[in-house]
Amino acid sequence: MSEEDVKDSVLMEKIVSLCKRRGFIFPSSEIYGGINGFWDYGPYGSRMKRAVENLWWHEMVETRDNVEGLDSTIICHPRAWKASGHLDQFSDLMTDCRDCKARFRVDQMEDPTRCSNCGSKNLTEPREFNLMMKTFVGPVFDEEHTAWLRAESCQPIFMDFQSVRVAARQKLPFGIAQIGKAFRNEINPRNFTFRSREFTQMEMEFFCDGEQGMEWFEYWKEQRIRYYREKLGFKDDFFRIYVHEKLAHYAKAAIDIEVKFPFGWGELEGVHHRGTWDLTRHSEFSGEDLQYMDHDNGRRIMPTVIETSVGLDRTILALLSSAYDEDTAATAKEGMDEDVRVVLHLPPLVAPVQVAVLPLSKKLSENAEKLYADLNRHFRAEYDVTGSIGKRYRRQDEIGTPFCVTFDFDSAGDNAVTVRNRDTMEQERVSIDQLRNYLEEAIGI
Ligand code: GAP
Repeated sequence: MSEEDVKDSVLMEKIVSLCKRRGFIFPSSEIYGGINGFWDYGPYGSRMKRAVENLWWHEMVETRDNVEGLDSTIICHPRAWKASGHLDQFSDLMTDCRDCKARFRVDQMEDPTRCSNCGSKNLTEPREFNLMMKTFVGPVFDEEHTAWLRAESCQPIFMDFQSVRVAARQKLPFGIAQIGKAFRNEINPRNFTFRSREFTQMEMEFFCDGEQGMEWFEYWKEQRIRYYREKLGFKDDFFRIYVHEKLAHYAKAAIDIEVKFPFGWGELEGVHHRGTWDLTRHSEFSGEDLQYMDHDNGRRIMPTVIETSVGLDRTILALLSSAYDEDTAATAKEGMDEDVRVVLHLPPLVAPVQVAVLPLSKKLSENAEKLYADLNRHFRAEYDVTGSIGKRYRRQDEIGTPFCVTFDFDSAGDNAVTVRNRDTMEQERVSIDQLRNYLEEAIGI
């Protein structure tokens, strides 16, 4: 391992440990030893997850007249997964080492003739493992009652295309978006939440006339890049675009937005031109005609699809990875004797706590609690009265709270508070009457 690699794996450990300690993310069913590839989000994690989800929904659905929302079931008709190709093709080629019993995805091995763990050449013949998770619907557990947990949230969007279009009186071009759980029996879950077996996707399928397909592909690509820059504050050296050269036979173009996780570059989102593949397959398998009648030009067309697909869990991990920092210069400034402050420089829009109210003394609780109750109606707020003010700042830094409001002995008299900025650690006196405006502007609401 190079020095850089060691630094990166230490960073990953630090993020995992902070997530556990401060209640962002921890293993599911931990009292039973956990279950590989499943994660729970605690109080701060679930707040942050909800904030990212709401931001995505606002950007992709609420602010657009040509994108509709959907909330479909996780279990669909089993034939849907035949049509989508998942039952026949959604698999990884795996090999086992007979000596050390390690199991590998063949496409991830540097040398498929040798065990990547112990170097042995005693490997089993590669075998296909399907990633779909199986369940049964009804009282009998047999083939006939087999169903599948969806492996991607977009398939119901294709199945419901006509119902949504008619109900919402939409014409091409328009999109349908959905946020929801997806399940994959990943052979090798790893890198914290990056590859999980249960995760949340935020997907949008945009239906258009094939002639405008590439224009819309470029449009959505730009929109999504802008979102990461402007809303999630990703810096240019933190993300990059990977252009697919090998494309599925039906696809015209595909890019991935990759980010620099502590373990290396990894896919966060895909923007794909999927041609007419999905609707054509569901038309064939269901017998329902999913074509669109273009009355303006008097023709029936099978809409082309541009997809934007991002993992919510990976977005949270990306945000934590880019936000985590250990600041050595800052502590003396606030009179603390420890020499590092752990701070998450999270974008204020998605920080689990946006403003913390900290009375300088318990004697000020009554007025400070009133201020907190008022702020809590407009922001994700927290009240903390225990410990020295420096310790309370550190607690808030560690969970990424961008603003701490200190209510002091002058506050009742001059109707003002001190607002401390997480990143600059600068303090500013702000009138309580102006506080809401001040915070809204600083947060970017
Ligand atoms: N409908 C297209 C689709 O599902 P994908 O590349 O398989 O495409 C889209 O998944 C996004 O879902 C990925 O970019 C990633 O953010 C997220 N994702 C996929 N598999 C995941 C897993 N095992 N754990 C966490 N997130 C995952």
